Formats: sequence, structure tokens, C-alpha cells
Amino acid sequence: MLPHPTLSDQYGTEAAKPEFVDRLFDKGAKHYDGIVDWGFLRSGAGYRKWVQERHGLKKGDHVLDVACGTGLVAVEAAKILGTAENITCLDPSAGMLEVARTKLPARFVQGRAEAMPFPDNSFDFLTMGYALRHVADLDTTFREYRRVLKPGGKLLILEVTKPASRVGNFLFRIYFGRIYPFLSGLFTRSRDARDMMRYYWITMDACVPPASVLDALRGAGLTEVKRTAMLGLFSEYTAVKPPA
Ligand SMILES: C[S@@+](CC[C@H](N)C(=O)[O-])C[C@H]1O[C@@H](n2cnc3c(N)ncnc32)[C@H](O)[C@@H]1O
Repeated sequence: MLPHPTLSDQYGTEAAKPEFVDRLFDKGAKHYDGIVDWGFLRSGAGYRKWVQERHGLKKGDHVLDVACGTGLVAVEAAKILGTAENITCLDPSAGMLEVARTKLPARFVQGRAEAMPFPDNSFDFLTMGYALRHVADLDTTFREYRRVLKPGGKLLILEVTKPASRVGNFLFRIYFGRIYPFLSGLFTRSRDARDMMRYYWITMDACVPPASVLDALRGAGLTEVKRTAMLGLFSEYTAVKPPA
């Protein structure tokens, strides 16, 4: 299942999407942290820590942060674990990884969620922050998550989801569709930053609904599949690899 229909006016065909997305994040990398900081009213770091604590990340866990980007999720995981020693960060964008490497002494690997260079049964806890829309295929990605998790291991996927109410949806569209990309370009004086946030919006708008994500997680053989939505907006998808 595609995470959203093909956006032919953005990247042409599905085959061209990975290169298009990599270029977008490579170019926008140096602006990403600043934009996310003010764009989410400085709540990002606190939320990323709180959500991992709430969903059971604990000292001693071996963690895989898929689509680590500039390391925003992994940095908060390291605070909970008390070390970055057992954290592996994966991302296809060299630009994003370059920024992340300056922040924590974790293991960094360039790669994609759909085909990860890790052995089976490697991790206790797998996170993915705000990147589900960028993978080529949900079923392949979730089967891969199941493969690399240890039996009983947990995954936590964070996403921003369009609100169901009409008013919420209207405000969401104005903010993420217009104000956020415009201000991102204005504050950074960078077209790359604006384009990155415009694409952020386009993919959020086109993303499959939560029920489809939950179905794909179940279809990959994961159990205890759930979605919690903070303010109806911040989706937290969790699932567990069945014990052996
Ligand atoms: C919006 S950033 C999210 C960064 C970070 N996780 C956070 O919480 O802010 C999306 C990231 O997904 C990465 N990405 C894009 N396609 C991917 C794929 N197929 N597999 C893994 N990561 C991917 C991008 O390179 C980018 O760093």
C-alpha cells in the first residue's frame, strides 16, 4: 500500500520519488531544526521525550530510530536511556545524517526503512518520527520493522494527521498548507526550506487515513496495534512483535 497516491506533479513516477525526497531533505537539512522548533511552538523536544517514555522506552533497550533526520527523536531517547550507546539511527539523506552526527554519539547508518541493513531480531524499541509518508510502501516497511524487532519488541510511529472536524481541518489547512511553508521560506530566506515544508504539507494532506495504517501494521503480523491521537492531530501508532 502506498502511503499516499503518486504525486506526479511533484516527482513524476513512484520510481523517481526516493531521489526527489532525498534531494529535498539534503537541501533543507540545515534549516530543519529551526523550522520545527518555532513551527510546533517549541513543543517538539519535550513531546518526543514524553511520547517515548509513555510508550515504554526504558534503560537498557536497544533502539532503532528509522528516518532519524537531524536526530530529534534519538536525542530524546538518549536522555531516557542515559546513553546513546545502544541507539542506531537510520536515514537515507546524507544531509540530515550530517546534522544528526553532531548531536549524539549513536551509530548512524545511511539507508531506507523498506530494506534495512540489520539482522533479524535486533532491537527492543523502534521509532519513526514524521516520515511514514516518505516510504515507498507501507506493507514492505512494516514487514521490515517486524523482522528487525526482537520478539516482544515495540514500535512507535509518530505522524501529524489531518483533524476529522471541519473547523479543525480548515485551521490545519491554513496553517500547514499556507502559513508554515511561507514563514519557513521567509525566516530562513531559503527556497529549499520553503519547498521542504510545502512538500511536508502536500504529503500530510494526501496521506492514507489512520485506519489504513493500522490495517497495514496488522497485515505485517504485528500485534497490539493501536493509535492514540493527541489533540486529534498527533498520531502515535504502536505495535508489538509477537513473542517467539
Ligand atoms: C520530516 S523528517 C523527520 C525527522 C525526525 N524523525 C523528526 O522527528 O523530526 C523525515 C525524514 O525521513 C527521511 N526519509 C525519507 N524517505 C525515507 C525512507 N524511505 N526511509 C527512511 N527514512 C526516510 C528523510 O530523509 C528525513 O530525514
